[in-house]
Amino acid sequence: MLFRSSSVVLSAIVLALSTIVAGYKYERIDKNNSVLLVVDHQEGLFQLSRDQHPVAFKSSILAHATLGKIFNLPTILTTSAETGPNGPLPQEIIALHPNASFIKRNGEVNAWDNSQFKAAVKATGKKQVILAGITTDVCTTFLALSLLEEGYAVFANSDASGTFDEKTAREANDRMRDAGVQVLSMFAVALELMRDWRNTPGATELLPFFDTYLPEYGLLARAHDAAITNGTASGLIVA
Ligand SMILES: *[C@@H]1O[C@H](CO)[C@@H](O)[C@H](O)[C@H]1NC(C)=O
Ligand SMILES: *[C@@H]1O[C@H](CO)[C@@H](O)[C@H](O)[C@H]1NC(C)=O
Ligand SMILES: *[C@@H]1O[C@H](CO)[C@@H](O)[C@H](O)[C@H]1NC(C)=O
Repeated sequence: MLFRSSSVVLSAIVLALSTIVAGYKYERIDKNNSVLLVVDHQEGLFQLSRDQHPVAFKSSILAHATLGKIFNLPTILTTSAETGPNGPLPQEIIALHPNASFIKRNGEVNAWDNSQFKAAVKATGKKQVILAGITTDVCTTFLALSLLEEGYAVFANSDASGTFDEKTAREANDRMRDAGVQVLSMFAVALELMRDWRNTPGATELLPFFDTYLPEYGLLARAHDAAITNGTASGLIVA
């Protein structure tokens, strides 16, 4: 009897699990429905980020802001106490988005607690949010969780978020994933936005971008170009 009821329970669990798996809905980033957030990528805070090599991390921060420009996404910049040790945003980021909403917070740790910031995000009318910040466990995670609660689909660019060490990064990314945030690489954000190399923005816009910000991919494209020039390869683009 005991055996029978546990096998009934077991079958119910198996059925429930298979329903969950079958019901998975892949939500892709849609360039027409997304807003990009640059959160506290400040020069002072940068030095707290030790979970990635600083050269790669600097490149990823600039790449994050550049994606907003390439895909013409509404972009919102924010900083925390920038006249103190946290410091300003790198000039390159400001130069990429001279007309973006730029909310300078004077105390709120979670940007969502700032009414101007919240209003700027809501005013875009977008339902998907791509974000990255320093630190991953505080500035990125707190905001990501608030955005989820507010009903947004949230995509955290993990390359462009930094924190004290790998353990802290892992725990922050786990916390976000457990709540339903999609945590993904800069390359994945870029290609999910692009979708097809023949689109605009497509290969023409993205290959120079990768040449700067993802040299592995940029040099792969250069090698391919060389082969085309040499006449040993056709002009097909591979990904
Ligand atoms: C975005 O909008 C353009 C113009 O309406 C359309 O051609 C394109 O398919 C849309 N992209 C996505 C991912 O929905
Ligand atoms: C920013 O706004 C100014 C004034 O409206 C405009 O001339 C300029 O083209 C805009 N820059 C960008 C990058 O949108
Ligand atoms: C392509 O490369 C090969 C090997 O280096 C060389 O022999 C050939 O002349 C090159 N062809 C062209 C068109 O540059």
